[in-house]
Amino acid sequence: MIFDTRLLTGVGVLAAVTEAGNFARAAEMLGVPTRDRHQLKAWSADFAEMLGNFQHNPDHTPKVLRALEEMLAYFRERVRELRAHPREGLINSLLTAQMNGDRLTEEEVIANSIITMVGGQETTTNLIGNGLLTLLRHPAEMQRLRDGPALIPSAVEELLRYESPSQHTARMAPTDIELGGQRIRRREAVIAVMGAANRDPDRFPDPDQLDLARTDNRHLAFGWAAHFCFGAALARIEGQISFAAILRRMPNLALQQVPLPWRTNLGLRGLIALPVRY
Ligand code: HEM
Repeated sequence: MIFDTRLLTGVGVLAAVTEAGNFARAAEMLGVPTRDRHQLKAWSADFAEMLGNFQHNPDHTPKVLRALEEMLAYFRERVRELRAHPREGLINSLLTAQMNGDRLTEEEVIANSIITMVGGQETTTNLIGNGLLTLLRHPAEMQRLRDGPALIPSAVEELLRYESPSQHTARMAPTDIELGGQRIRRREAVIAVMGAANRDPDRFPDPDQLDLARTDNRHLAFGWAAHFCFGAALARIEGQISFAAILRRMPNLALQQVPLPWRTNLGLRGLIALPVRY
């Protein structure tokens, strides 16, 4: 059997998840028509190319820009509809939120809707796919988790550290600055590789060792500081529910000995499919 990792996205218990059902739920949460789910998934995958790869695969740029333009037009239209006929969902919450009389502009509502949809889909898929692969490659640790499901929250943190779904992020330096002995000029790009930091031997004892009960596991898989992942709590719950359900329902799960198809995306590390037997 092949777990198509496209089936592993989103909120809910793995066994109950189908691509259609899952994107239907994402659409529902946003407050857009569920019949648009396939289109939303396709845009989300194209946009992820930019999040993870833009600087590395310039050939993909036209496709990414087209997806972005189409998504902008789509969300602009939905925002107009929601203003005329409000219905529950994240977009409506963003439209009506206010603080001290200040509200988000239409562009800000659209940008936040897109980043939440893409950020929420493309990363959790990788957490579940990479995490399951890691468990299958470490049978003793997997057994330890089966024997002590109370370890699930700590296991999810270790799987986030060990095979980080989002490997790097980038910033433009706002001013000339010296960092780690390097001179960085204003507007130069700096790439922070969370995947490397999460295996830093100065921070984590035996960093290449998978230890589902690791303590003081303050990894950077969700970033840091002002832009720390907005969906971290939701992603953690999704991971916990999914791994608990898989271990409970599939006692004989094993990896098929075939080559693993990885996404060609440096930033968003994940599988296209995870071939297993059970
Ligand atoms: C395992 C799952 C996830 C991982 C590994 C992950 C990772 C990250 C990382 C590393 C950042 C910081 C990026 C930076 O500083 O440049 C981030 C930001 C963000 N994430 Fe996640 N994320 C996950 C799930 C989610 C979910 C489920 C949602 C939404 C429901 C979400 C929405 C966002 C948003 C909106 C931001 C931008 C926050 C800001 O700029 O203030 N993420 N995520």
